[in-house]
Amino acid sequence: MTNEKPLACICLPLEPELEARIEASCRLEHISWAASLDVLVEAVRDADGLLIGNRLPIGEEVFAAAPKLRVLAGVGVGYDAFDVAAATKRGIAVSNTPDVLTHAVADLVLGLLFAVSRSLLENAEYVRSGGWSHAARPPRLGFDVRGRTLGVVGMGRIGRVVTARAQALGMRTLWNDVFSELPAGAPQSDYRELTELLRESDVVSLHTDLNPTSHQLISADELACMQPHAVLINTSRGPVVDQTALVEALEAGRLAACALDVLEQEPPAADDPILALPNALLVPHIGSATEQTRYAMRELAVRNLLAVLSGEPPPTCLNPEVLD
Ligand code: DGY
Repeated sequence: MTNEKPLACICLPLEPELEARIEASCRLEHISWAASLDVLVEAVRDADGLLIGNRLPIGEEVFAAAPKLRVLAGVGVGYDAFDVAAATKRGIAVSNTPDVLTHAVADLVLGLLFAVSRSLLENAEYVRSGGWSHAARPPRLGFDVRGRTLGVVGMGRIGRVVTARAQALGMRTLWNDVFSELPAGAPQSDYRELTELLRESDVVSLHTDLNPTSHQLISADELACMQPHAVLINTSRGPVVDQTALVEALEAGRLAACALDVLEQEPPAADDPILALPNALLVPHIGSATEQTRYAMRELAVRNLLAVLSGEPPPTCLNPEVLD
Protein backbone atom coordinates (compact mmCIF):
# COMPACT_ATOMS: atom_id res chain seq x y z
CA MET A 1 0.00 0.00 0.00
CA THR A 2 1.46 3.33 -1.04
CA ASN A 3 0.63 6.68 0.52
CA GLU A 4 1.00 8.42 -2.80
CA LYS A 5 -1.90 10.70 -3.63
CA PRO A 6 -4.10 9.53 -6.53
CA LEU A 7 -3.31 10.93 -9.95
CA ALA A 8 -6.06 13.03 -11.57
CA CYS A 9 -5.62 13.73 -15.28
CA ILE A 10 -7.49 16.81 -16.45
CA CYS A 11 -8.17 17.08 -20.16
CA LEU A 12 -9.65 20.57 -20.26
CA PRO A 13 -8.70 23.90 -18.70
CA LEU A 14 -10.01 24.43 -15.16
CA GLU A 15 -10.24 27.53 -12.99
CA PRO A 16 -7.42 27.84 -10.44
CA GLU A 17 -9.84 27.29 -7.54
CA LEU A 18 -11.07 24.03 -9.07
CA GLU A 19 -7.49 22.88 -9.62
CA ALA A 20 -6.72 23.77 -6.00
CA ARG A 21 -9.61 21.59 -4.85
CA ILE A 22 -8.20 18.67 -6.80
CA GLU A 23 -4.65 19.30 -5.60
CA ALA A 24 -5.76 19.24 -1.98
CA SER A 25 -6.04 15.46 -2.24
CA CYS A 26 -4.58 14.45 -5.63
CA ARG A 27 -1.63 14.88 -7.91
CA LEU A 28 -2.85 16.77 -10.97
CA GLU A 29 -1.65 16.33 -14.53
CA HIS A 30 -2.84 18.36 -17.48
CA ILE A 31 -3.53 16.81 -20.85
CA SER A 32 -4.16 19.25 -23.70
CA TRP A 33 -7.90 19.59 -24.37
CA ALA A 34 -7.01 19.23 -28.06
CA ALA A 35 -5.08 15.97 -27.54
CA SER A 36 -5.65 13.13 -29.99
CA LEU A 37 -6.86 9.78 -28.71
CA ASP A 38 -3.34 8.35 -29.13
CA VAL A 39 -1.87 11.12 -26.98
CA LEU A 40 -4.57 10.64 -24.38
CA VAL A 41 -3.97 6.88 -24.21
CA GLU A 42 -0.29 7.49 -23.49
CA ALA A 43 -1.04 10.22 -20.96
CA VAL A 44 -3.46 8.26 -18.75
CA ARG A 45 -1.28 5.19 -18.06
CA ASP A 46 -0.95 5.99 -14.34
CA ALA A 47 -4.20 7.88 -13.90
CA ASP A 48 -6.63 7.10 -11.09
CA GLY A 49 -9.11 9.64 -12.40
CA LEU A 50 -9.77 11.32 -15.73
CA LEU A 51 -11.81 14.52 -16.16
CA ILE A 52 -12.69 15.20 -19.79
CA GLY A 53 -15.30 16.68 -22.15
CA ASN A 54 -17.07 14.64 -24.79
CA ARG A 55 -14.92 15.34 -27.83
CA LEU A 56 -13.05 12.00 -27.86
CA PRO A 57 -14.51 8.49 -27.73
CA ILE A 58 -13.47 7.03 -24.38
CA GLY A 59 -13.73 3.26 -24.22
CA GLU A 60 -11.74 0.06 -23.94
CA GLU A 61 -8.67 1.51 -25.66
CA VAL A 62 -8.31 4.10 -22.90
CA PHE A 63 -9.42 1.82 -20.07
CA ALA A 64 -6.97 -0.94 -21.07
CA ALA A 65 -4.13 1.61 -21.07
CA ALA A 66 -5.06 2.91 -17.61
CA PRO A 67 -5.29 -0.10 -15.27
CA LYS A 68 -5.60 2.08 -12.16
CA LEU A 69 -8.42 4.22 -13.51
CA ARG A 70 -11.33 4.45 -11.04
CA VAL A 71 -13.33 7.37 -12.38
CA LEU A 72 -14.15 8.96 -15.71
CA ALA A 73 -15.68 12.33 -14.85
CA GLY A 74 -17.34 13.70 -17.96
CA VAL A 75 -18.04 17.40 -18.45
CA GLY A 76 -21.36 17.37 -20.31
CA VAL A 77 -24.78 15.84 -19.91
CA GLY A 78 -24.52 13.70 -23.07
CA TYR A 79 -22.33 10.67 -22.59
CA ASP A 80 -22.56 8.97 -25.98
CA ALA A 81 -18.78 9.45 -26.31
CA PHE A 82 -18.22 7.17 -23.31
CA ASP A 83 -18.47 3.38 -23.37
CA VAL A 84 -20.23 3.07 -20.02
CA ALA A 85 -20.68 -0.72 -20.35
CA ALA A 86 -16.94 -1.23 -20.87
CA ALA A 87 -16.19 1.04 -17.92
CA THR A 88 -18.64 -0.86 -15.74
CA LYS A 89 -16.94 -4.17 -16.57
CA ARG A 90 -13.69 -2.70 -15.32
CA GLY A 91 -15.28 -1.18 -12.22
CA ILE A 92 -14.70 2.38 -13.41
CA ALA A 93 -17.31 4.90 -12.29
CA VAL A 94 -18.56 7.19 -15.07
CA SER A 95 -20.29 10.49 -14.34
CA ASN A 96 -21.84 13.29 -16.37
CA THR A 97 -23.13 16.79 -15.52
CA PRO A 98 -26.94 16.84 -15.79
CA ASP A 99 -29.25 19.59 -14.47
CA VAL A 100 -26.70 22.39 -14.34
CA LEU A 101 -27.00 23.06 -18.09
CA THR A 102 -30.74 22.54 -18.54
CA HIS A 103 -31.69 26.22 -18.58
CA ALA A 104 -28.78 27.30 -20.76
CA VAL A 105 -29.77 24.78 -23.44
CA ALA A 106 -33.43 25.81 -23.16
CA ASP A 107 -32.33 29.46 -23.60
CA LEU A 108 -30.56 28.53 -26.80
CA VAL A 109 -33.61 26.67 -28.13
CA LEU A 110 -35.72 29.80 -27.66
CA GLY A 111 -32.96 31.94 -29.15
CA LEU A 112 -32.88 29.74 -32.24
CA LEU A 113 -36.67 29.76 -32.45
CA PHE A 114 -36.83 33.56 -32.42
CA ALA A 115 -33.85 33.89 -34.74
CA VAL A 116 -35.69 31.79 -37.30
CA SER A 117 -39.20 33.12 -36.70
CA ARG A 118 -38.06 36.75 -37.13
CA SER A 119 -35.15 36.24 -39.57
CA LEU A 120 -32.87 38.00 -37.07
CA LEU A 121 -29.59 37.12 -38.76
CA GLU A 122 -30.69 38.22 -42.22
CA ASN A 123 -32.14 41.47 -40.87
CA ALA A 124 -29.02 42.22 -38.82
CA GLU A 125 -26.87 41.55 -41.89
CA TYR A 126 -29.08 43.88 -43.95
CA VAL A 127 -28.49 46.75 -41.52
CA ARG A 128 -24.78 46.02 -41.20
CA SER A 129 -24.43 46.20 -44.97
CA GLY A 130 -25.96 49.69 -45.03
CA GLY A 131 -29.59 48.77 -45.56
CA TRP A 132 -32.63 49.98 -43.69
CA SER A 133 -35.26 50.94 -46.23
CA HIS A 134 -38.26 48.67 -46.51
CA ALA A 135 -38.82 50.05 -49.97
CA ALA A 136 -35.42 48.76 -51.10
CA ARG A 137 -35.91 45.43 -49.39
CA PRO A 138 -39.32 44.66 -47.97
CA PRO A 139 -38.81 42.65 -44.79
CA ARG A 140 -39.42 38.94 -45.09
CA LEU A 141 -42.29 38.57 -42.69
CA GLY A 142 -41.76 36.18 -39.85
CA PHE A 143 -44.28 34.15 -37.93
CA ASP A 144 -45.87 34.62 -34.52
CA VAL A 145 -44.64 32.10 -32.02
CA ARG A 146 -47.80 32.54 -29.96
CA GLY A 147 -50.48 30.16 -31.13
CA ARG A 148 -48.05 27.87 -32.98
CA THR A 149 -47.57 24.22 -32.03
CA LEU A 150 -44.23 23.04 -30.66
CA GLY A 151 -43.45 19.32 -30.75
CA VAL A 152 -40.84 18.27 -28.21
CA VAL A 153 -39.12 14.97 -28.89
CA GLY A 154 -37.55 13.74 -25.66
CA MET A 155 -39.31 14.75 -22.43
CA GLY A 156 -36.22 14.72 -20.22
CA ARG A 157 -34.97 17.64 -18.15
CA ILE A 158 -34.34 19.95 -21.10
CA GLY A 159 -37.48 18.93 -23.00
CA ARG A 160 -39.58 19.76 -19.95
CA VAL A 161 -38.11 23.23 -19.48
CA VAL A 162 -38.47 23.98 -23.20
CA THR A 163 -42.10 22.84 -23.01
CA ALA A 164 -42.83 25.05 -19.99
CA ARG A 165 -41.23 28.07 -21.61
CA ALA A 166 -43.05 27.50 -24.89
CA GLN A 167 -46.34 27.34 -23.00
CA ALA A 168 -45.47 30.64 -21.30
CA LEU A 169 -45.08 32.10 -24.80
CA GLY A 170 -48.58 30.96 -25.69
CA MET A 171 -47.54 27.96 -27.77
CA ARG A 172 -49.46 24.71 -27.84
CA THR A 173 -47.15 21.85 -26.95
CA LEU A 174 -46.95 18.19 -27.93
CA TRP A 175 -44.44 15.66 -26.69
CA ASN A 176 -43.01 12.27 -27.60
CA ASP A 177 -40.51 9.97 -25.93
CA VAL A 178 -39.70 6.26 -25.76
CA PHE A 179 -42.14 6.18 -22.83
CA SER A 180 -45.70 7.42 -23.30
CA GLU A 181 -46.58 8.34 -19.71
CA LEU A 182 -45.88 11.98 -18.89
CA PRO A 183 -43.00 11.92 -16.36
CA ALA A 184 -43.75 13.25 -12.87
CA GLY A 185 -43.07 16.96 -12.68
CA ALA A 186 -43.33 17.51 -16.44
CA PRO A 187 -45.64 20.31 -17.59
CA GLN A 188 -48.99 19.09 -18.89
CA SER A 189 -48.61 18.52 -22.62
CA ASP A 190 -50.29 16.27 -25.19
CA TYR A 191 -48.53 13.01 -26.10
CA ARG A 192 -48.33 12.04 -29.75
CA GLU A 193 -46.72 9.15 -31.63
CA LEU A 194 -43.64 10.54 -33.36
CA THR A 195 -45.16 10.72 -36.85
CA GLU A 196 -48.30 12.42 -35.50
CA LEU A 197 -46.20 14.93 -33.59
CA LEU A 198 -44.22 15.71 -36.74
CA ARG A 199 -47.42 16.16 -38.76
CA GLU A 200 -49.06 18.51 -36.26
CA SER A 201 -46.12 20.67 -35.21
CA ASP A 202 -45.09 24.02 -36.65
CA VAL A 203 -41.79 23.74 -34.79
CA VAL A 204 -40.10 20.51 -33.69
CA SER A 205 -37.35 20.57 -31.07
CA LEU A 206 -35.19 17.49 -30.42
CA HIS A 207 -34.13 16.66 -26.86
CA THR A 208 -33.28 12.98 -26.92
CA ASP A 209 -29.89 11.62 -25.97
CA LEU A 210 -27.94 9.76 -28.66
CA ASN A 211 -28.26 5.99 -28.37
CA PRO A 212 -28.85 3.15 -30.86
CA THR A 213 -32.62 3.82 -30.77
CA SER A 214 -32.36 7.55 -31.40
CA HIS A 215 -29.65 7.31 -34.09
CA GLN A 216 -31.20 8.92 -37.21
CA LEU A 217 -34.55 9.04 -35.46
CA ILE A 218 -35.44 11.84 -37.87
CA SER A 219 -34.78 10.43 -41.35
CA ALA A 220 -36.39 10.94 -44.75
CA ASP A 221 -39.68 9.26 -43.74
CA GLU A 222 -40.02 11.37 -40.62
CA LEU A 223 -39.08 14.59 -42.43
CA ALA A 224 -41.74 13.76 -45.02
CA CYS A 225 -44.33 13.91 -42.22
CA MET A 226 -43.44 17.52 -41.40
CA GLN A 227 -45.33 20.47 -42.85
CA PRO A 228 -43.61 22.60 -45.53
CA HIS A 229 -43.76 25.67 -43.28
CA ALA A 230 -42.30 23.78 -40.29
CA VAL A 231 -38.96 24.38 -38.56
CA LEU A 232 -36.69 21.71 -37.06
CA ILE A 233 -34.49 22.67 -34.09
CA ASN A 234 -31.77 20.29 -32.91
CA THR A 235 -29.72 20.99 -29.79
CA SER A 236 -29.32 17.31 -28.84
CA ARG A 237 -26.84 15.36 -30.97
CA GLY A 238 -26.22 15.61 -34.71
CA PRO A 239 -26.66 11.92 -35.55
CA VAL A 240 -30.24 11.99 -34.21
CA VAL A 241 -31.04 13.52 -37.63
CA ASP A 242 -30.19 12.05 -41.02
CA GLN A 243 -28.47 15.18 -42.28
CA THR A 244 -28.45 14.15 -45.94
CA ALA A 245 -32.22 13.71 -45.83
CA LEU A 246 -32.55 17.03 -43.99
CA VAL A 247 -30.55 18.88 -46.66
CA GLU A 248 -32.75 17.32 -49.37
CA ALA A 249 -35.94 18.35 -47.55
CA LEU A 250 -34.69 21.93 -47.06
CA GLU A 251 -33.51 22.23 -50.66
CA ALA A 252 -36.79 20.91 -52.00
CA GLY A 253 -38.85 23.28 -49.84
CA ARG A 254 -40.46 20.35 -48.03
CA LEU A 255 -39.31 21.96 -44.78
CA ALA A 256 -39.04 25.72 -44.26
CA ALA A 257 -35.94 25.91 -42.07
CA CYS A 258 -33.77 24.23 -39.51
CA ALA A 259 -31.70 25.57 -36.63
CA LEU A 260 -28.91 23.25 -35.54
CA ASP A 261 -26.49 23.48 -32.64
CA VAL A 262 -25.18 20.00 -33.45
CA LEU A 263 -24.17 18.32 -36.68
CA GLU A 264 -23.51 14.77 -37.83
CA GLN A 265 -19.85 15.70 -38.14
CA GLU A 266 -18.37 18.37 -35.86
CA PRO A 267 -16.79 20.50 -37.11
CA PRO A 268 -18.42 20.05 -40.53
CA ALA A 269 -16.29 19.50 -43.64
CA ALA A 270 -15.80 22.71 -45.62
CA ASP A 271 -17.92 21.29 -48.45
CA ASP A 272 -20.73 20.02 -46.24
CA PRO A 273 -23.89 20.95 -48.21
CA ILE A 274 -25.68 22.10 -45.07
CA LEU A 275 -23.29 25.08 -44.89
CA ALA A 276 -24.59 26.42 -48.20
CA LEU A 277 -28.28 26.42 -47.29
CA PRO A 278 -29.77 29.84 -46.52
CA ASN A 279 -32.57 28.21 -44.54
CA ALA A 280 -30.20 26.34 -42.21
CA LEU A 281 -29.19 28.37 -39.16
CA LEU A 282 -26.08 26.74 -37.71
CA VAL A 283 -24.29 27.44 -34.42
CA PRO A 284 -21.20 25.56 -33.16
CA HIS A 285 -22.49 23.32 -30.33
CA ILE A 286 -23.00 26.15 -27.84
CA GLY A 287 -26.00 24.79 -25.92
CA SER A 288 -24.23 25.01 -22.58
CA ALA A 289 -21.77 27.74 -23.52
CA THR A 290 -22.34 30.43 -20.91
CA GLU A 291 -19.78 31.42 -18.27
CA GLN A 292 -22.01 30.34 -15.40
CA THR A 293 -23.18 27.06 -16.88
CA ARG A 294 -19.77 25.90 -18.11
CA TYR A 295 -18.34 26.68 -14.68
CA ALA A 296 -21.14 24.74 -13.00
CA MET A 297 -20.44 21.77 -15.30
CA ARG A 298 -16.72 21.78 -14.51
CA GLU A 299 -17.40 22.19 -10.81
CA LEU A 300 -19.81 19.24 -10.77
CA ALA A 301 -17.32 17.12 -12.72
CA VAL A 302 -14.63 17.95 -10.15
CA ARG A 303 -16.99 16.91 -7.34
CA ASN A 304 -17.67 13.63 -9.14
CA LEU A 305 -13.96 13.00 -9.64
CA LEU A 306 -13.00 13.77 -6.06
CA ALA A 307 -15.86 11.78 -4.58
CA VAL A 308 -14.80 8.55 -6.27
CA LEU A 309 -11.13 9.09 -5.51
CA SER A 310 -11.96 9.55 -1.84
CA GLY A 311 -14.28 6.54 -1.70
CA GLU A 312 -17.54 8.52 -1.64
CA PRO A 313 -20.50 8.15 -4.03
CA PRO A 314 -20.27 10.76 -6.81
CA PRO A 315 -23.27 13.11 -7.11
CA THR A 316 -24.18 12.14 -10.68
CA CYS A 317 -22.95 8.64 -11.45
CA LEU A 318 -24.08 6.82 -14.59
CA ASN A 319 -23.15 3.34 -13.36
CA PRO A 320 -23.66 3.38 -9.58
CA GLU A 321 -23.44 -0.42 -9.54
CA VAL A 322 -19.63 -0.15 -9.68
CA LEU A 323 -19.66 1.67 -6.34
CA ASP A 324 -20.98 -1.33 -4.40
C1 DGY B 1 -23.49 18.17 -23.34
O1 DGY B 1 -23.51 18.58 -22.18
O2 DGY B 1 -23.63 16.99 -23.62
C2 DGY B 1 -23.32 19.19 -24.39
O3 DGY B 1 -23.36 18.65 -25.64
C3 DGY B 1 -22.06 19.97 -24.17
O4 DGY B 1 -20.98 19.19 -24.44
